[in-house]
Amino acid sequence: MVTARKEAALAMRKTDVVIEVLDARVPLSGRNPIFEQLRREYGRAALEVLNKSDLADPEHTRRWLAWFNAQPGVKAIAVSAKAQKEVKRIPEHARALAPQRNSPLKPLRMMILGIPNVGKSTLMNTLLSRVVTKVGDEPAVTKAHHRHEIGRGMWLTDTPGMLWPGIEQSAALKLAATHSIGRNAYDNAEVAAGLGVYLLDRYRPLLEQRFGPIPEGSSGHRLLELIAQHRGFLVKGGAPDLERAARILLGEFRDGTLGRITLETPEAAG
Ligand code: G4P
Repeated sequence: MVTARKEAALAMRKTDVVIEVLDARVPLSGRNPIFEQLRREYGRAALEVLNKSDLADPEHTRRWLAWFNAQPGVKAIAVSAKAQKEVKRIPEHARALAPQRNSPLKPLRMMILGIPNVGKSTLMNTLLSRVVTKVGDEPAVTKAHHRHEIGRGMWLTDTPGMLWPGIEQSAALKLAATHSIGRNAYDNAEVAAGLGVYLLDRYRPLLEQRFGPIPEGSSGHRLLELIAQHRGFLVKGGAPDLERAARILLGEFRDGTLGRITLETPEAAG
């Protein structure tokens, strides 16, 4: 982690614009505080790319864009990494943040950051129109820094997807729900029950559409029992299979089957 921070600091020194790929469903919890601190220290501009916006609640994405765009030196856009048209505009947005870097002698130097599984490899592949990194749904596939020329006088340095120490518990739960924290690091039922509490509060109709009526006052744990009953997931002896229900809830949230959901709003940012 210390080496990774050192490498990031070295790269930051030679960077004009930091492109931070965020998950539009957790744009605050997924923002790396170490990079943000370094970026401010070095006085660099940031392009915040709210990716997976096809999975996020559009109203919240609109509000998050306004929140980021109100910060000095920051431009925010919402994209879906698989959409060529949206992604191809990233260099142009970055260029506008550092217009003085506009010649082969003074190339625009960009660094791209993002937590594991945020879609950075997919985005890079779309941006470069070829397969440069292995895309997968297991966190931390990208390992080393790579520099790519993405246009005349435009350099893009790729960094490994990483998390940081000391993530507080509610953020960790959201990052586990979006699968930015590897599945071996948490308990599915615990994460799904925590996600369930939030969804019951904010997105109850989406849950009821998929899993049937849910009595008022149900806990996250009760929600998992109801999902198991609704789907007929039982363990030996007839008790509800909570682990299987948890996997269903997490899976349907992650792939958008449940609907377009955002797990935090700008009010959380204070
Ligand atoms: P990483 O480099 O940041 O670790 O992430 P990566 O690109 O490997 O993407 C992780 C998963 O997220 C992949 O799914 C990828 O397709 C998906 N993904 C990336 N960007 C978007 C987006 O904007 N919208 C949606 N809906 N999904 C996105 P996967 O499970 O490997 O499956 P598949 O979709 O590639 O089949």
